[in-house]
Amino acid sequence: METIIEIQNLEWKYENTKEFALKGINLQVKEHSFVGVVGANEQGKTSLLSAISGLIPHSFNGIYRGQVLLFGKPVREMDSLELATKVGLVFSDPEAQFTAMTVEEELTFGLENIGYSLSEIKERLEWAAQITMIEDLLDKSPYDISGGQKQRVAIACVLAMNPPIIMMDEPTSMIDPLGKRLIFDILRKLKEEKKHTLIVAEHNVEQLAPLADEMILMSAGQIVRHESTLEFFTNPLYLREQGILPPECTEYAQWLNHEGYLPIETKLPLEFEEAVKFIRPLFEKRGVK
Ligand SMILES: Nc1ncnc2c1ncn2[C@@H]1O[C@H](COP(=O)(O)OP(=O)(O)OP(=O)(O)O)[C@@H](O)[C@H]1O
Ligand SMILES: [Mg+2]
Repeated sequence: METIIEIQNLEWKYENTKEFALKGINLQVKEHSFVGVVGANEQGKTSLLSAISGLIPHSFNGIYRGQVLLFGKPVREMDSLELATKVGLVFSDPEAQFTAMTVEEELTFGLENIGYSLSEIKERLEWAAQITMIEDLLDKSPYDISGGQKQRVAIACVLAMNPPIIMMDEPTSMIDPLGKRLIFDILRKLKEEKKHTLIVAEHNVEQLAPLADEMILMSAGQIVRHESTLEFFTNPLYLREQGILPPECTEYAQWLNHEGYLPIETKLPLEFEEAVKFIRPLFEKRGVK
């Protein structure tokens, strides 16, 4: 797979702050991968996503060193239109980005700006509305719907533009449990489509881990770990020190492993279905069906 995001020695400091928010960041992301980003508060997750989206340095003042390349071109050299066709970022607060009277207008606004034909707009609108399950909200006001629905509309707005890179910054942090599940359902569908590169910062490791191919841990403005998701969660002590808990089923399997109930080489599960598959034989060995 081709590397489509490349960050080289990136340093970023917001104006009026003492500390650099991003320090010595080097990162490569391959096309169609799903990257999870975790870390305690104020460690640089949002800044990293903003740097990839080009919001840093285009919409903030500060000191910028190094570079971020999307498809080999520095984001610094792209204008907002070019950036919008390459990368989309969904924030945790969906309302902040609404401007239109109806959900449908909200979705088509960006597309009209870029100059797509009516049939292309219709096709993108239908796809984005269907995958985010908002078809019955299209004629409603984006301010008149629930928090979870607003977030799905915000995601649909980014999807309608169909950028190859889609990022979400804590997309479920402000919505109720059912709403959260629907957001993860959308992420699962996008992953299964294998048409986008997905980068998601999220505190809900339980839901994120089964989806992510790779995980990044941010601490004090640096990427302190970047590994396959399974490797990442096999050192829970280190993660705990950084305030990150692995998925419960991974921890449980690791405990069984540690206590000698499982063969040492057992591949740890990241979600319950997998965990059940390898724990079942343990019960069956003891005659429990
Ligand atoms: N607009 C800004 N202006 C000045 N400093 C900022 C700005 N945004 C973030 N920072 C600072 O940059 C550092 C990294 O913040 P960032 O928001 O990237 O972290 P985060 O990991 O996303 O945190 P959280 O989990 O709270 O969302 C922090 O010290 C923060 O105070
Ligand atoms: Mg943040």
